[in-house]
Amino acid sequence: MTGQEFKGMIDIHTHILPGLDDGAHSWEEAMAMAQGAVKDGIAAVVATPHIYEDSGITPEEIREKARKLQDMLDSQEINLHVFPGAEVQLAVDLPDRIRDGRLQTLANAGRYLLVELPFGLLPVYTDEVLFELQASGVIPIIAHPERNESVQKDPNLLHGMIRKGMLAQLTGGSLRGNFGSKVEYTAKLLLKHSLVQILASDGHRADRRRILLSKASGVVADLAGIETAQAMTSLNPRKITQGIVFDPREPREIRGLSGFVHTMTFRALR
Ligand SMILES: [Fe+2]
Repeated sequence: MTGQEFKGMIDIHTHILPGLDDGAHSWEEAMAMAQGAVKDGIAAVVATPHIYEDSGITPEEIREKARKLQDMLDSQEINLHVFPGAEVQLAVDLPDRIRDGRLQTLANAGRYLLVELPFGLLPVYTDEVLFELQASGVIPIIAHPERNESVQKDPNLLHGMIRKGMLAQLTGGSLRGNFGSKVEYTAKLLLKHSLVQILASDGHRADRRRILLSKASGVVADLAGIETAQAMTSLNPRKITQGIVFDPREPREIRGLSGFVHTMTFRALR
């Protein structure tokens, strides 16, 4: 299998490789996560270990581990393709690191970089760093914006980013209430306004926070239609792993957010 021939869902955000971050603890757990993914209808995953400024994990190391996991899966005839990738924490030197080849792009296609914003407020250099990445030909994909405090308070921040050509990835568990009602509320708001283009699991373990997409995809279908669910779980992730640039559905600005009702609704959530 070349990795481009399969049909089915593709999960572009997983912590399936062991020994790199807080994801899989062992190769056995990685294999169990892979088996769970296949059972859920997932055909391919991108392994995206957390990359912090000082984590010292190199693209070569990620690619080597992804290859090893692929060999293990192939030898047991488990039908899952594993691509190398990374979830890179926003930092002021990201443009330098991408230019020097020190950051692993998604599926090694050189086009998309999964970027994690800090959970609290956005640093002042955010816009500039994201712009510079785009100027060097790399499209940032914002990982789970619904979990970021600045986006929760002003979801239209994301509207500006999408209009500039970036993409955003919603985490399945957010839609299902796994991170609390503020995150769930924001996730649904973003989804209904076409402010997110990809659904991913952000799976960390074999027992909880697993690599699953089918249930969350059902929630997307209920809220935004089956075509959106297919685009977010299959079509768009496939283009991303192939490094193909595409025009997502036109994002819509969220109206009335500065109003009293939104503020009170949001305050009432936990
Ligand atoms: Fe993650």
